[in-house]
Amino acid sequence: MNTRKFRCGLVLVLALLALSPLQAAKVRDPGSPTVLLTGSNRGVGLALAQEYAAKGWNVIATCRTPSKASELQALAAANPKVLVEKLDVTDLRQISKLAEKYRGVPVDVLFNNAAWLGEPVASQQFGNLDQDMFVEVMKTNAYGPLKLSEAFVDNIAASEQKKIIGMTSGLGSLTIMARMSRFYFYQMSKAAMNMGMRALRNDLRSRGIIVAIVAPGMVDTDMLIASGYKGDKLTPAESAAGLYAMVAELTLEDKGVPVNVDGKPIPW
Ligand SMILES: NC(=O)c1ccc[n+]([C@@H]2O[C@H](COP(=O)([O-])OP(=O)(O)OC[C@H]3O[C@@H](n4cnc5c(N)ncnc54)[C@H](OP(=O)(O)O)[C@@H]3O)[C@@H](O)[C@H]2O)c1
Repeated sequence: MNTRKFRCGLVLVLALLALSPLQAAKVRDPGSPTVLLTGSNRGVGLALAQEYAAKGWNVIATCRTPSKASELQALAAANPKVLVEKLDVTDLRQISKLAEKYRGVPVDVLFNNAAWLGEPVASQQFGNLDQDMFVEVMKTNAYGPLKLSEAFVDNIAASEQKKIIGMTSGLGSLTIMARMSRFYFYQMSKAAMNMGMRALRNDLRSRGIIVAIVAPGMVDTDMLIASGYKGDKLTPAESAAGLYAMVAELTLEDKGVPVNVDGKPIPW
């Protein structure tokens, strides 16, 4: 083959590769807003998927194991605007694959809900500290939300509402937790997530993106059971309804401090 023919062939192959659809995804109803949720197979995340779906949103509902997410799959079966996607927030390849799949799709709300408490709790107590667990908790709760925000920032900037949400906890508050040391890694991870979202807020403000830190209250989920908490609690549906209303009201002018679902600010 002469050089000219080889070059033409190469150009053709490259052009075809550039044009081939890499399974580009579309939301079902581009006229409605879109939320991307993490950890939406159970607990507060599942309730958020149900809440946003009930309000008519396109829901990109991600979870680690879609084949086992029976309640989420049932929601999607009943509502074509709910798309279930596989995503482990600690898996960088999965994050970039998902971002590539939804390239160009506006995402109004990126809701970083997924988190891991770190179990058994004993492995994050002084005298018994486990480095592997520390790394996993930090990757899930602190780095995951930040990396996802980076991967989807153009989708968010292209949307109407432009919101990134970090899900915190009173356990991440230096003030509230001044006298508690039961969950070293989880407490550290939520404090780190708060700081990450705070820094992100500064960086993305000029693009009109609102970065907010919210907490769901004490909610009756597997995580709360694992924590050993025995006091009053909300149902996941109650928490999700409150969070939905709160996120809907966010503006660029907000102070950007962590806020609980009952509207009360959580001190840093
Ligand atoms: N419940 C409360 O009272 C409470 C209080 C304060 C803050 N929060 C916060 O609220 C959010 C939801 O908590 P929850 O109570 O609903 O917890 P949960 O019942 O334990 O559910 C946690 C969710 O996160 C997912 N997840 C964990 N690691 C993940 C990873 N690496 N990648 C993707 N998903 C992952 C889980 O998926 P799998 O099923 O695959 O494990 C599950 O869907 C969390 O950010 C939590 O810190 C909860």
